[in-house]
Amino acid sequence: MDPLNSARVLLGVSGGIAAYKAAALTSTLVQSGATVDVIMTAAAERFITPLTFSSLTARPVYTSLWDAPERIPHIRLVREAQVFIVAPASANVIAKIATGIADDLLTTALLASRIPIVVAPAMNSAMYERSETKRNIDALRERGIEIVEPESGFLAEREIGQGRLASEERLLDAIRRSLARTRQLQGKRVLVTAGPTVEALDPVRHFSNPSTGAMGIALAREAAQRGADVTLILGPTLLAPPPNVRTVAVKEAREMYEATMREVPADLVIAAAAVSDWRPAERFDQKLPKGSKDLNVRMVRNPDVLQALGDRKDGAFLVGFAAETESHQAHASEKLRKKNLDAIALNDVSGERGFGLQESSLTLLWRDGGELNLGSGAKEMLAARLLDAIGPRLNEDADAARD
Ligand SMILES: Cc1cc2nc3c(=O)[nH]c(=O)nc-3n(C[C@H](O)[C@H](O)[C@H](O)COP(=O)(O)O)c2cc1C
Repeated sequence: MDPLNSARVLLGVSGGIAAYKAAALTSTLVQSGATVDVIMTAAAERFITPLTFSSLTARPVYTSLWDAPERIPHIRLVREAQVFIVAPASANVIAKIATGIADDLLTTALLASRIPIVVAPAMNSAMYERSETKRNIDALRERGIEIVEPESGFLAEREIGQGRLASEERLLDAIRRSLARTRQLQGKRVLVTAGPTVEALDPVRHFSNPSTGAMGIALAREAAQRGADVTLILGPTLLAPPPNVRTVAVKEAREMYEATMREVPADLVIAAAAVSDWRPAERFDQKLPKGSKDLNVRMVRNPDVLQALGDRKDGAFLVGFAAETESHQAHASEKLRKKNLDAIALNDVSGERGFGLQESSLTLLWRDGGELNLGSGAKEMLAARLLDAIGPRLNEDADAARD
């Protein structure tokens, strides 16, 4: 069945000559069985009237944040839709998305959106070639937004150049791809561990590591966006867990172990937590006096959460993370084999890389050999690429089990 059939599509139209082409796109979407809501910017209304879109969709067209504020349109529209496409996207709207400006209904809805976003730029080639515009488009891409690049050809200014809105076929393909993504993990149970663990020595001192949980949180959010039922087991972090996943907060490695074992089996388990390998053998109830001497602390091994997951497996597709500072590939392959994983995401944490909110880079090594470089960038983007790569393998496993 065509994924467009019975899909909910939100279409943003901004102010450019190609706004008229958005009407043809709307008509095709409606004929394919999609329900389409349209948001227009004030500039778009100068090129085409809302009447055209409301006639095509048989639904109201939204042009202002303030028309029916009691229904909070910018939130309601993005909650009801499965995919958000902006076509044509003006240079101005792209710049606003890149910087998080939300000064009208379209840009506010875009900022409030957790659904996949597709952006189709259309503008004069001089505007498109500007370094500002290029940088803004790159920023959107890094955030996981799909860009449908404009085509070269005759522009309204009677010039030839790159800037024409992509063909309807390419726009429809991008919408179909995004819809398929949102359904990729439907009916699957996904378990993600994230964040550090902290091992107390006394009430004011502990052993831990610099993990913030950002990667695991991004993975949990992305899996939920793809329709999975997600549980996130999260060590102490200042970052907020995504709202649409069930979060179990833990502190110590032993709690993370117990919580994880309670939550399996699952179809997909991603162990992104940085679990402390050791804890102090003794934990003091009162603050240790500083004194003048050195302190010797004996550390004992914590349970190995990933090993335990690999040992019981339960039909899950199991993905581990390897944060390595040297001999990356060799250490990660060894861990993959020893812990009975299906894949391992190798994260280079030498120097300042890898931890926290800054960019990261990942390489995925598969159990059956072979590797996939997921590139470098924002953790949201890497999370999307990782699930793009793993999703088909999950479904392959499920198909094999049925045969
Ligand atoms: C005749 C005309 C055509 C325009 N075509 C485009 C266009 O194709 N792409 C674009 O980015 N801006 C175009 N603009 C400029 C935008 O309309 C302008 O930047 C506006 O502020 C965009 O508002 P919006 O992004 O809120 O829709 C055009 C302006 C005029 C007057």
